[in-house]
Amino acid sequence: MIKFKKFYVTTGIDYVNAPPHVGHAYEKICADIIARWHRLKGENVFFLTGTDEHGEKVEEAAKISGKEPEEFVEEITSTFKETWKILNISYDDFIRTTEKRHEEIVAKLVKKNFDNGDVYKGEYEGWFCVPCETFWTELQLKNGKCPTCGRKVQKLKEEAYFFKLSKYQEKLLNFYEKNPEFLSPSFRANEIINRVKAGLKDICITRSSKWGVPFPIDNRFTIYVWVDALVNYISALDWPEEKFKKFWPADLHLIGKEINWFHTVIWPAILFSAGIEPPKKVFCHGWLTAEKQKISKSLGNVIDPVYLAKKYSTDSLRYFLVKEIPFGEDGDFSENSLIARINGELVADLGNLVYRVLSLAEKFDGEIEGKVELEKKLDLRKIEESMEKLELHNALNGIWNFIRATNKYVNEKEPWKLKGKELGEVIYNLLEALRVIAILVSPSLPSSAEKINQQLGVKAGLLKDCKFKKFEGKIKKGEYLFRKVE
Ligand code: ME8
Ligand code: MG
Repeated sequence: MIKFKKFYVTTGIDYVNAPPHVGHAYEKICADIIARWHRLKGENVFFLTGTDEHGEKVEEAAKISGKEPEEFVEEITSTFKETWKILNISYDDFIRTTEKRHEEIVAKLVKKNFDNGDVYKGEYEGWFCVPCETFWTELQLKNGKCPTCGRKVQKLKEEAYFFKLSKYQEKLLNFYEKNPEFLSPSFRANEIINRVKAGLKDICITRSSKWGVPFPIDNRFTIYVWVDALVNYISALDWPEEKFKKFWPADLHLIGKEINWFHTVIWPAILFSAGIEPPKKVFCHGWLTAEKQKISKSLGNVIDPVYLAKKYSTDSLRYFLVKEIPFGEDGDFSENSLIARINGELVADLGNLVYRVLSLAEKFDGEIEGKVELEKKLDLRKIEESMEKLELHNALNGIWNFIRATNKYVNEKEPWKLKGKELGEVIYNLLEALRVIAILVSPSLPSSAEKINQQLGVKAGLLKDCKFKKFEGKIKKGEYLFRKVE
């Protein structure tokens, strides 16, 4: 029996204090491209996303809008789901932290931490940032404000339960050393390692507010929203049952850089305590910024991804975001750069190529066959390497090199001057190139890939089909793939 390789990829689950903005869209698009790429490799992919619905931040937002939290989260979550549909996000499961299947597993895991002697009662005294749902010590504050988002913090003094994070310092450091891929990209590793080396304090894991998962040890409390949220990665797999056994450990948690600590320190420690293996890799992407400020719901500088997708097409937005920002770094969002890439790369390179090849092929009625000439212009290994290293932007560069080489081939062969067997050979090479291009662009431009396949009259291929063979399609020229933006 052939055993297919599994690939489990997750995104951060979004707070539902407001509808999604283009920063959330960026993360889900990148995860989607990675998931689709692994499907192309024939792997058994599980792609998870969802929403983080508990906590004070969401509770406050509900209150401001005059709604009960239950009703409020229902509404906002549906806008997330609608947005991901419009953006063609091919998730396999969508987990909501208010679902019973999730809450039960959160309680079970925390109970396990408690039974293993890692949870104790104490008193929390310190600061709390509601927008970040984060506890801070006096020393960590920057000018009295939250060091992550720069906003006002609240003073807290309350009875609470703690998790013995301090106990896991050595174990974490050993784990990082043995698994250098875990902290990705590598330029983010030292910050975490140094902070862990400097010493770990036990963390508060309960709150006294009502909007959360009841704390199984003492029902006067709810579980701290971050502990609740992190568990989504295994509750969606129905830990410890079959699906969990099949897909855990996660191959990739894709998250933003501001929540690295939760994913690379707190999360593995909680898992260690429960006897569960940590994920294989946590990769931090950068921030989408507007005039160099993080785009953020609570900062009020949001850009609506649905507006952009409707105005410029979903594929254009997906392409732009991934091509524009070296994966892992921050990038400033600008509609002008989006337009420049649509006109300069999608219209002029890909759209133009498809249109001219199909025009030629449609008029030709000879045999479409001949010597393989163009395939050597494709450096598939390099594209694969870029994807393995999660250099999504470089993978697109590699694909674009082939698209441009194919356009150049048209210019050099001047097929409008050819006929008969010679023309058949050029058309053969071009159609096979387009078939391969459709496969390669399918993760980032899923609906354009589908349109190319329709025009070629071929079925969607896998990565193993990126080799020239006999052309077996039935061509039917269609519309331009992309429209120039004036
Ligand atoms: O942090 N650019 O939720 P969130 C790029 N619920 N990515 C961005 C971004 C931007 N401008 N703004 C947000 C949370 N994101 C928690 C996560 S996971 C167990 C719990 C990314 O709604 C952000 O980095 O603030 C995070 O990965 C995701 O969107 C959700 O952010
Ligand atoms: Mg945030």
